[in-house]
Amino acid sequence: MKRFKKLKILNELYRYKLIGLNYIDDFHIDLKTQNMQSNYQLPNSLESLKNIVLNCHLCQLSKTRNKVVFGEGNPNAKLMFIGEGPGANEDNTGKPFVGRAGNLLTKIIENVLELKREDTYISNIVKCRPPQNRVPTETEANECMPYLLKQIDIIKPSIIVTLGSTAYKYLTKDTTPISKIRGEIINYNNIKLIPTFHPSYLLRNPSAKKFVFYDMKKVKNLLKN
Ligand code: URA
Repeated sequence: MKRFKKLKILNELYRYKLIGLNYIDDFHIDLKTQNMQSNYQLPNSLESLKNIVLNCHLCQLSKTRNKVVFGEGNPNAKLMFIGEGPGANEDNTGKPFVGRAGNLLTKIIENVLELKREDTYISNIVKCRPPQNRVPTETEANECMPYLLKQIDIIKPSIIVTLGSTAYKYLTKDTTPISKIRGEIINYNNIKLIPTFHPSYLLRNPSAKKFVFYDMKKVKNLLKN
C-alpha cells in the first residue's frame, strides 16, 4: 500500500480519536484498487437510525449543539422537505422548522398544498445547529449526508422539495443559483426534486412568496397524479 494512503488512514483514525470515538467498525482495503470499504451500514428503520444520529459526534457541530434535530413526520410520506440545518428554536426543541420560518412552512403546507404538516416528512442537510446559524461547511454537510440519504431511502418519497440554495446544492452537488433553478422538476434518483426558496428568505423578502406559491402548486399537481 502506498505510503500516502497509509498516512491518510492514520490521519483519519487520529481525527476520530480526537472527536471522542474509541471504536470504529472494521473496513476492508482492496489492495489492487486501494479503495477502502467500510462494513458499517446504517439501519433500515427510522427509529434505529434516529438512535445513531442522536449519539453522533462525527463533526464539530456536535460540540456546540443542544439537541440533535433528526427530522419528523410521516415515515411513509410522499412529500419530503429538506432544509439547511436547525436554528435556535430547533436546537432547543429537537424538532425541525419550529421557529418563524417553520411557522411559515407549516402555513404553506396547510394553505397551498392543503396537507397536514404531519402528512409530510421534514428534515435537514445537517442535524445539528451551526453556531450563529452560519451555513454548514461542506465537511459538515458531507459527514451528515449518509443520515439524510438513509432517511430518503427509508421514506421513499415521490417528491422532494429542497428549501433554499444550501439544501439544493449539498444534496444534488449542482451549483446553479437557486433563483435560476427554483420551480424546475429535477430527476433525483427517480424522485422528483423541486427546489424552492427557503422560508427564512421569504420572511426577509415577502415579494418572493409568489414564486414559492407557483412551485407548491406544481408540487400539488404532481401529488395528484
Ligand atoms: N431552517 C432550516 O433550514 N431548518 C430548520 O429546521 C429550521 C430553520
